Amino acid sequence: MKLAAFVSGLALVACALDLENGLMKAPPMGWLAWERFRCNTDCKTDPDNCISEKLFVDMIDRLADDGWKELGYVYVNIDDCWMAKKRDTSGKLIPDPERFPSGIKALADYAHSRGLKLGIYGDMGNYTCCGYPGTTLDRVEQDALTFAEWGVDMLKLDGCYSSEDEQAQGYPKMAMALNATGRPIAYSCSWPAYQGGLPPKVNYTLLANICNLWRNYGDIQDSWRSVLDIVDWFSANQDVLQPVAGPGHWNDPDMLIIGNFGLSDEQSRSQMALWTVLAAPLFMSTDLRTLSRSSREILQNRLMIKINQDPLGLQGRRVLRVQKSKSHIEVFLRPLSHSASALVFLSRRTDMPYRYTTSLSKLNFSASAVYEAQDVYSGGIISGLKAGENFTVIVNPSGVVMWYLYPTMYLDQPLDFVRQHPRGRGFHPFTL
Ligand code: GLA
Repeated sequence: MKLAAFVSGLALVACALDLENGLMKAPPMGWLAWERFRCNTDCKTDPDNCISEKLFVDMIDRLADDGWKELGYVYVNIDDCWMAKKRDTSGKLIPDPERFPSGIKALADYAHSRGLKLGIYGDMGNYTCCGYPGTTLDRVEQDALTFAEWGVDMLKLDGCYSSEDEQAQGYPKMAMALNATGRPIAYSCSWPAYQGGLPPKVNYTLLANICNLWRNYGDIQDSWRSVLDIVDWFSANQDVLQPVAGPGHWNDPDMLIIGNFGLSDEQSRSQMALWTVLAAPLFMSTDLRTLSRSSREILQNRLMIKINQDPLGLQGRRVLRVQKSKSHIEVFLRPLSHSASALVFLSRRTDMPYRYTTSLSKLNFSASAVYEAQDVYSGGIISGLKAGENFTVIVNPSGVVMWYLYPTMYLDQPLDFVRQHPRGRGFHPFTL
């Protein structure tokens, strides 16, 4: 083969490998069945909560009617246990005929008719984690075509029952197959979670090219302990994980469990704030039909969502960890567009509200600016904050204080310059 042909052949392979679907420039938002509804297939005794088209129609209706869609929660995602136990005679995946009598295409059509998108679940391997038909290497193209034909908008590809080698072949192969369908289908890869989540086993450069998001770590459970375990793992490995996230390709610390049974209101506010600082996908896994008012307020906080969806798409970091802070307050920081930042003060205490005193200089903010901070939960504003000045936040046990912080004036610039640059977009306090 001539060199030019070889090089262009290589370029072709590289292009074909890229997902390049232009999707998820901001972290995706929506609803995902797994954590709350698991593999409950018993529709006889539990018709409202089993994995069936009724459950998804109910959630589509809630997302469309209760103000979620307008805030960006647009994906309604099916997880495991939707399939019939066997493929049909042509080898095609089919939904369980009793639980999904209208079929997946009808569900996708309904989601679209209500302004939403439908996500589905598959598994790179012999079986899904719950034992339903998997997508073996020889089925990748067929399954991608099936999902596209049904009008599905997102695929979560799990990794149970496959070897490392099958995963290494299968995940890029599915990216190519999804591309080849011509339908924009967002691609969520569980691959790194099956490889320990860290290099050298995990190649995040490759993942960022082929997947829109990826699960790095174990499954979230309905408990505060599980939330902290995930936050600690992401923070301990932030030097690796923080740089690989960006528009179109996100780390996924797993679902929001707000609204379920394991978190107090304080802890729910903490999960929302921490996921936002991590630039995480916001997939709620809760029963939207019975959600309490306080959970709804947390999940529908507009300033929080604006920060989560910030166009810079930078993931934040833990900048002060508990081992270094006698107060047992941790600090997280996410840089945002227009020189703004999100700051989260998290209490790891178990005693009482703690008065935490610090200054922006101690948190490495430039001394040459004056800042304004808006409390993301209370809406309260602190103005005229100089970097060297001490301030105090009161943080409840296992709770957070979260600030949206932005400079209002630069001290080392001539007054004229400041006058000519009135507070622009992003410098305005956000009206709650
Ligand atoms: C794995 C995944 C979960 C969920 C289950 C379904 O454990 O990590 O998110 O999809 O499988 O069986």
